[in-house]
Amino acid sequence: MTSLDAILDARGLTKRFAALVVLNEVDFAIAPGEAIGIVGPNGAGKTTLLNVLSGAYPPNAGSVAFAGHDVTKLDAAERNRRGIARSHQVPRPFGGMTVFENLHVAAAIGGQFSGPAANDICVEALALCGMIKLANRRADTLGLLDRKRLEMARALATDPKLILLDEIGGGLTDAEAQELVLIIRSINARGVAVVWIEHIVHILLQVVTRLVCMDAGRILADGEPRAVMRNPEVISAYLGSGAESAA
Ligand SMILES: Nc1ncnc2c1ncn2[C@@H]1O[C@H](COP(=O)(O)OP(=O)(O)OP(=O)(O)O)[C@@H](O)[C@H]1O
Ligand SMILES: [Mg+2]
Repeated sequence: MTSLDAILDARGLTKRFAALVVLNEVDFAIAPGEAIGIVGPNGAGKTTLLNVLSGAYPPNAGSVAFAGHDVTKLDAAERNRRGIARSHQVPRPFGGMTVFENLHVAAAIGGQFSGPAANDICVEALALCGMIKLANRRADTLGLLDRKRLEMARALATDPKLILLDEIGGGLTDAEAQELVLIIRSINARGVAVVWIEHIVHILLQVVTRLVCMDAGRILADGEPRAVMRNPEVISAYLGSGAESAA
């Protein structure tokens, strides 16, 4: 993929924590509206890649371009305003606020919406995530599935072009994760590009058309999901922890 047709184009990303090289010259490009899954063993660098793409951490080397602009030096808030939204591996709602207030903050700050337009996008995001009835609930009273839904609804309230999901299915039952699959599919069907890190591979494969496997800060394989899961390097990175059964 050339940078001309990518919505996001990251080149040569390296991230170190002291002596530990967590991302090692990673190249990663996403087409507009694409749905990509990221898998890899614990500690592979998946969350760190998301952190560097979203602007939570600056890379030690490399660049990130988004919608044709170099955003490498821009912080997470500015990247969010430009259309990169994310969910966190551990949900981070404003616990003392209602669900609707949480969305409103996201719409105002990340989406720069105000007045009726802010209300409209919040209602739309709530509806898409099946949370209308929970609009007035305090966020800290929600169960795990609803906190995961809220992470996605907050991201959507910023009107993103790209949404980065970090283990949004983690800790959920299969049936609960299935509900998130429907939501993520409808987000993607609206033209929002999706990057989804997930350990539950069969859930991931219901949404993504491309799979990336990371190990030790590098991309081991990138391509058609079932071909990636059959890749011997991918299988040996997992040492049988589900990779073969998913393939
Ligand atoms: N802020 C940090 N400071 C120091 N080391 C970190 C930091 N964040 C991540 N690491 C280390 O970087 C490595 C990669 O972590 P990362 O969270 O990106 O892995 P991951 O692939 O998301 O793993 P998991 O599947 O467990 O979520 C790990 O060894 C981790 O301990
Ligand atoms: Mg992680």
